Amino acid sequence: MESFQLEAGKAFPTHAHAELQSGSQPSISVKRRQSILFVTSEIADYIKAGGLGEVSAALPRALRHHYDVRILIPGYRQVLSQIGDVEEIARLPASFGIPACGLGRGTTQDGLTVYVLLCPELYDRDGSPYVDSFGVDWSDNDVRFARLGLAAADIASGAGDPLWRADLLHLNDWPSGLASAYLAWRGQHIPTILTIHNLAYQGLFDRNRLSYLGIPDNAFQINGVEFYGKLSFLKAGIFYSSHITTVSSTYAREITRPEFGCGLDGLLRTCADEGRLDGIINGIDESWDPSTDPYLVSPFSAENCRGKRANANNVRENFGLALSTGPLFAVVSRLVHQKGVDLAISAAETIVSQGGQIAVIGQGEPRFEAELQSLAQRHPGSVGVKIGYDEGDARRMYAGSDFLLMPSRFEPCGLSQMYAQRFGSLPIAHKTGGLADTIEDGVNGFLFGEPSLNRFMDAIRRGLDTFRSSSRLTTMRRAAMNRPHGWDRSASRYQEVYDRARQAAAAA
Ligand code: ADP
Ligand code: GLC
Repeated sequence: MESFQLEAGKAFPTHAHAELQSGSQPSISVKRRQSILFVTSEIADYIKAGGLGEVSAALPRALRHHYDVRILIPGYRQVLSQIGDVEEIARLPASFGIPACGLGRGTTQDGLTVYVLLCPELYDRDGSPYVDSFGVDWSDNDVRFARLGLAAADIASGAGDPLWRADLLHLNDWPSGLASAYLAWRGQHIPTILTIHNLAYQGLFDRNRLSYLGIPDNAFQINGVEFYGKLSFLKAGIFYSSHITTVSSTYAREITRPEFGCGLDGLLRTCADEGRLDGIINGIDESWDPSTDPYLVSPFSAENCRGKRANANNVRENFGLALSTGPLFAVVSRLVHQKGVDLAISAAETIVSQGGQIAVIGQGEPRFEAELQSLAQRHPGSVGVKIGYDEGDARRMYAGSDFLLMPSRFEPCGLSQMYAQRFGSLPIAHKTGGLADTIEDGVNGFLFGEPSLNRFMDAIRRGLDTFRSSSRLTTMRRAAMNRPHGWDRSASRYQEVYDRARQAAAAA
């Protein structure tokens, strides 16, 4: 909380939710919560492509007790069809090639304010936020997300909602990266935090788009938005934001090294050296509770895990697996190289030969989808694969499985392993990023040191050994389910970062 002393003749803050204290005259003491604009390209309430959508739904809610947090999101078809009433409160002007748009305001069911960009020509289409139904990037992604960044800068500086401006911008990943750059080019010193959820997605575009997007030519250089001859939205965000966070401490260190730095490790090392890079692990929200989850066939808890069996049998039935009392392995994943899907496919033969079964749900690269389907055909009753996305299936798989395979080559945080732990399924995962920070090897899961088939198989064997000892299995399951997974600690770390960013901006 910040306290403002207003003196006679000075402007009264226009921020909504200002709380007047019964103050002593003549100066009025006004206490108001800091206002945070959380800018995101997905939010699980309406649309999500991965973990970013879940974090965007959970983190603002964990912070709203302390701040006036509002969300800014593009008005995709899926947002506008679900959010209910949206009032257009302002028009944001066109700028260079970026079209004008309406600024709508709506609320989530639990009362969180959401600003929605009303621009049908950019956002009213089927498909994910980033790609069309064939998985191909929208050809105008640069304009779509420059529009988002510019709107964020406008709202922050008071040119959006006439009744509200942000004290701080919290940006997420490349789609909102240009916001801090637009503020810097206008000479507006509003503190900005950029959270990197995945450094591998950078928002790279041709340099001939600069003027169309209103990017000054002199920003196209190493100390600016240039990245190996391309325009990089993510680099813009890293370069111009006051503070960078990423979603685990280990990943924060990894990305300062060439192996994980995706070409940005030099810049990120500078941020780290300047104390401007932090790792803050994600939490998981309260809906992940096996004793109350409506998707499950049978509830259970750490104290009484018997209900897991009914969920396992349900998964077997749904995935065409034979009834069995052997170990059940799950894969719930985007099917991309990052996630080590090829390693899971290679490990499958051995798992099956040891009496294990595997249920897979995922979608992504066509080659992985085809390989998984052929694996299932070769092992009927032992490997079941669904290509697609289904939240209920995913939850029942975490609940029914004994192990979750997560051999990600890199993993900034990872939510799936935490969901699995919470539902008593032991993750078998590569010791990297958030997996290294959330899994204690041999205690609440299994870790292996390098993403090779041999190391992965060693960890799987340790899992199978544990499965054969019911007392060890029960102990590890309990440890996994009881591991603290909530958002509270992470939310207070974000508060510290917000404070530091504001202090740094005030001193600048
Ligand atoms: P990422 O964001 O890199 O995909 P995370 O582990 O952070 O990885 O988040 C993935 C989220 O998406 C988890 O909630 C996981 O349960 C969910 N998920 C991934 N694939 C599927 C699927 N095919 N069906 C349902 N949920 C899925
Ligand atoms: C990204 C990362 C994942 C992380 C998620 C949420 O999708 O790949 O590791 O959990 O963002 O931060």
